[in-house]
Amino acid sequence: MQISKLSLALVTIFSILPSSALGEKSNPTQVAESGDYTSDEFTSGSDFNSYTISNDVSDSYPEPTLEVEGKKKSKKTSSVKRTTKSIKHAKTKSVSSTAAGSSNSGIVSGSGSSGSKATSVRSPSKTAANGAGVAGSVGPLTSLSEKSNICDITDYGAVAGNETDISTAITNAFNNCVLKTSGSTLRIPEGNWLMTKPVILNGGTKWAFQIQGLITCSYSTSAWSASSYNTAIVIKNANDFEMYSDNGLGAIQGNGYVYRITSGEEHDEGWMRLVRIVTSTNVSVHDLILVDSPMYFLVVYQCTNVEVYYITIRGGNTGMTDGIDISGYNYFVHDVEVTNKDECVCVKSPSTNAEISNVYCSSSGGVSIGSLQSGANVTNIKISDVYNYNTNSLMFIKTKPGGSGFVKNCEFSNFHGYDCAFGIDIDQYWDSKSGSGGVQLENLIFSGFYGSIAAAYSGSSPTRGGVKIIGAYDAPPVDITLEDIVMYKNEDRTGKYIDVYENAYGEGYELKPDSASASGYTTSITATAAPSGWTQPALPDWNVGSTGYGLTVSIPVYTPAVMW
Ligand SMILES: *[C@@H]1O[C@H](CO)[C@@H](O)[C@H](O)[C@H]1NC(C)=O
Ligand SMILES: *[C@@H]1O[C@H](CO)[C@@H](O)[C@H](O)[C@H]1NC(C)=O
Ligand SMILES: *[C@@H]1O[C@H](CO)[C@@H](O)[C@H](O)[C@H]1NC(C)=O
Repeated sequence: MQISKLSLALVTIFSILPSSALGEKSNPTQVAESGDYTSDEFTSGSDFNSYTISNDVSDSYPEPTLEVEGKKKSKKTSSVKRTTKSIKHAKTKSVSSTAAGSSNSGIVSGSGSSGSKATSVRSPSKTAANGAGVAGSVGPLTSLSEKSNICDITDYGAVAGNETDISTAITNAFNNCVLKTSGSTLRIPEGNWLMTKPVILNGGTKWAFQIQGLITCSYSTSAWSASSYNTAIVIKNANDFEMYSDNGLGAIQGNGYVYRITSGEEHDEGWMRLVRIVTSTNVSVHDLILVDSPMYFLVVYQCTNVEVYYITIRGGNTGMTDGIDISGYNYFVHDVEVTNKDECVCVKSPSTNAEISNVYCSSSGGVSIGSLQSGANVTNIKISDVYNYNTNSLMFIKTKPGGSGFVKNCEFSNFHGYDCAFGIDIDQYWDSKSGSGGVQLENLIFSGFYGSIAAAYSGSSPTRGGVKIIGAYDAPPVDITLEDIVMYKNEDRTGKYIDVYENAYGEGYELKPDSASASGYTTSITATAAPSGWTQPALPDWNVGSTGYGLTVSIPVYTPAVMW
């Protein structure tokens, strides 16, 4: 049963995988299998384009002019991070004492059926020079108990039952209660609630937004774009802010499938996003379930000191459904599960001092940085403990030719994959197969990449492997470190496994040393046997099924139980 579902799904999934056409760019050296990436997976140009566009739209989403419309892992004991510890226990007790958490603990430990973790996981031997990761406290400055002035939307006209729009009540509770009294909590109580138009909550300080029920956003292709953010809930210029649920029921349902059925399209730039946090400081967002957004789910745009955790994202199996797109200074994203078919968690520019860990990506694009072009400013990012099922890559860095700026001083460690298209995927010709110059990649450490690749052929050429690094020929990546890469093709794959190294310098495996960085090169290695220490990973028990969620049926909110 599982096997046949899987093979069926792959036909769809691989039709939108990103690709890089080696033959068309200015690099004079060519890999022998130069047709590898111009494969028949890309028979549909529109698929490719929409996948690409999806990553760029949120990059450059215009900042509109607006008026007020009014568990961390035990190793992370550092005192610099503030987290709300009590939430998880409150929820697991009241909602899902059996399911929540139990599957997660299995995955984190890598034991039992959880799959893709190799038997021995070494710690990286090297760390980024200037300290990748968070640089100070993240999250709100004050605890929830100091936000005890309750602004309940039912006191501002909201009626439960999913029949009457609550957006005006939310706005009124914010303007007349939150903004009037420092230390307030805007509460959406348990129940079913309907939103038919967007809210933009601008400027609150020392406040919380507690969502205890299910908000359904009604279908409309015009109502949501009444705000230029095109997003159901926008939080802007908040400080000391916490958006959360503490009963395990806080959820927003976008019913994207209705848009898809109605239009016959899979995505459209004009459709609604769910949540956007803009230029805010000292913020946390946690314990929320975001379901079937017609477009991107959670965008955190140029915020400072942010913590995002215990977030569950369930999206349709299509592009332009990025789970979490985030930029800013000093942020920490952890314990997040995303099912979709675009970015899982995506680091956008500018991003400085960030940490991302304990991420579960199902059927998605995986974790990425990009896409980047001019003025990229991404430094000191640490990404670790990432678990992938059927994703496009374990770690993807994508930049476009002709770019400027940099991605430097980053560490990527302990990544796991089951039947993914690529492991480490660096593509500096993203979206454009020709052009000169590029974003400088420097001092990037990749350590501990484990699992299986959905090896495939294009014609007779192998196309996928654990390493695919296509550096910019005239602005090549330097000081790259690769170590402990233990990947091979998934056992049911008939294709061949191939690693490709092109114009990238540093140490480890087939990288040429930095001293050679003046000349371009291409090396590809087709593996005929598994590397030592590799074992076929087991199917992760946390994936929702090989096809992800459907495109034309409602996606469930509370089942399966969330991990946290
Ligand atoms: C809420 O109402 C919307 C719009 O009428 C409907 O599509 C949706 O199924 C309802 N949701 C729930 C949970 O009742
Ligand atoms: C955010 O918190 C830091 C302390 O962690 C504080 O220095 C800073 O002033 C706060 N930001 C704002 C806008 O108050
Ligand atoms: C990159 O961003 C950081 C953090 O905001 C900032 O301090 C730095 O000046 C930026 N660098 C460039 C070259 O823009």
